[in-house]
This record gives sequence, C-alpha cells and structure tokens, in this order.
Amino acid sequence: MTAATNISRTTDFVDDYHSLFVCKTCASMWQDGKRLGESGGQKLLQQLQHLAQDWDLRNKFLIEEVECMSACNRSCVVAFAAKGKLTYLFGDLAAEDSASAVLECARKYYAHQDGLLPWSERPELLKKGILAKIPSISVEKVSTTVI
Ligand code: FES
Repeated sequence: MTAATNISRTTDFVDDYHSLFVCKTCASMWQDGKRLGESGGQKLLQQLQHLAQDWDLRNKFLIEEVECMSACNRSCVVAFAAKGKLTYLFGDLAAEDSASAVLECARKYYAHQDGLLPWSERPELLKKGILAKIPSISVEKVSTTVI
C-alpha cells in the first residue's frame, strides 16, 4: 500500500466520521461539591456503549463522553455531529430507557447526507427535546470569504 493510498483512506474515514456526544454529568446528585453515586448521564452512556457493541454502525459513530454541553437544566443531553452535516443537540432524555431511541436517531442522522432529522422521522423520545440545530460549516463560503 502506498502513502497516497493511506492518506486517501484516512481522508475517507474523516469524511465519514460521526460523533455521538453524551454528557456524563447530566442528572447528577451533588453534596458538598462532590457527586453522589452514578449520574444519569453516566447511566445513559453505559447503556449506549453496551447497545453499540452489536450495532452495525459502531465503526462509523464514535460515542464520546463529555463533561457538559451547557444544557444542564434539560438533562440528559446528547449531540450528533459530523463533517458537512447539521449538528443536533437533544435534551430531556431519561437516563434509564433512552439508549435505543438515541441509536435509532443516530442511524437516521447517518443516513441523511446533510444530517437532517425531520420531526416525523425521529424516534418518539427525541421528538420534543431538541435544543439546537446548528448549520454545518460551508467550505465554499469559507474559501470565498477568507482572503
Ligand atoms: S451537565 Fe449535562 S449539559 Fe451540563
């Protein structure tokens, strides 16, 4: 395999790379500045990681834990992001039984070229809790605007 082939494969991977961010701090109980037990976000993260072991998109989506996505009063919170796609932030997810719906929604996000997740196509649990829909960065605009 040549270096050029390696670079091409790496570029393909990055272009197809998707992230599912999960806030592990959501739904925490605090006492004297210390977290008591496991947070709701940690429970959701563990369930997602467990379900994803048998998920056919496990090599396409990286499940990434994050400390906070600034939607703390809407826990639990997850986000979908990928190059050239909309970024979505969802909240109000129950810690115990949302993981299947999150992965189902991730599948739809992956399937749409621009990541669009119309209300009618989203799983029931993710129909109400949408907190943000952020446009993708347009490479064409950047290259014509930045001199
Ligand atoms: S604690 Fe989860 S978004 Fe801030």
